[in-house]
Amino acid sequence: MYKAQTPELEDYVRHTLQDLKTLTRGLAASEHMLSHAIAEWKADIGQRLAAAQMTLVWSFTMDDDLPLTVTQWSGLTRILRELVSNAIYHAKATRVHIDGNVQGGRLLLWIADDGEGREPAKWSHGLGLGGVRKRVRALGGAVRWRENSPRGIICEVQINHLDQTPSPSPTPGPLPSRFGEPATRW
Ligand SMILES: Nc1ncnc2c1ncn2[C@@H]1O[C@H](COP(=O)(O)OP(=O)(O)OP(=O)(O)O)[C@@H](O)[C@H]1O
Ligand SMILES: [Mg+2]
Repeated sequence: MYKAQTPELEDYVRHTLQDLKTLTRGLAASEHMLSHAIAEWKADIGQRLAAAQMTLVWSFTMDDDLPLTVTQWSGLTRILRELVSNAIYHAKATRVHIDGNVQGGRLLLWIADDGEGREPAKWSHGLGLGGVRKRVRALGGAVRWRENSPRGIICEVQINHLDQTPSPSPTPGPLPSRFGEPATRW
């Protein structure tokens, strides 16, 4: 059994292996029901946050279950993984709040932490944020990061047609008013 030099490295290796396992299993299936994917995401993220001594507040509602294509499933799985990783490794948060809603085929997703992140416009972007942007775009959606109140970061993801074959959007459109402030370019 591999023994890492530090607990952080061990956590990283464990989750990378877990990631590979989930994706390999998932990519072999031709279709994933949204309700099933939601249950898996909740269990997976709950486990990761518990291991990092963080609390997950989870709420996901939908008007109708629908089948996700493999691209949609793997895209959303990896987007969530990366955003949760950033909350664990960068935010020093105690709590992550994930709120999802699917209505008429449109998905709105919030991932909020109560950490020390500030001014997302000034972040230097690594592979993680670039990958999130790329995957959201491939699903025909939009994403932005903003400061949470009173502290932390909220990432907002909108995918308009989860019930149709995704057509990548060349430029992100404005996010709806539900997201509070006027949409900015990101
Ligand atoms: N939730 C967050 N709270 C605080 N800072 C954040 C948060 N998410 C991202 N950041 C900042 O944005 C930077 C870029 O994140 P990104 O995910 O692109 O790269 P990374 O996590 O450093 O490396 P990787 O390529 O392995 O993901 C981070 O280094 C961090 O400074
Ligand atoms: Mg990252």
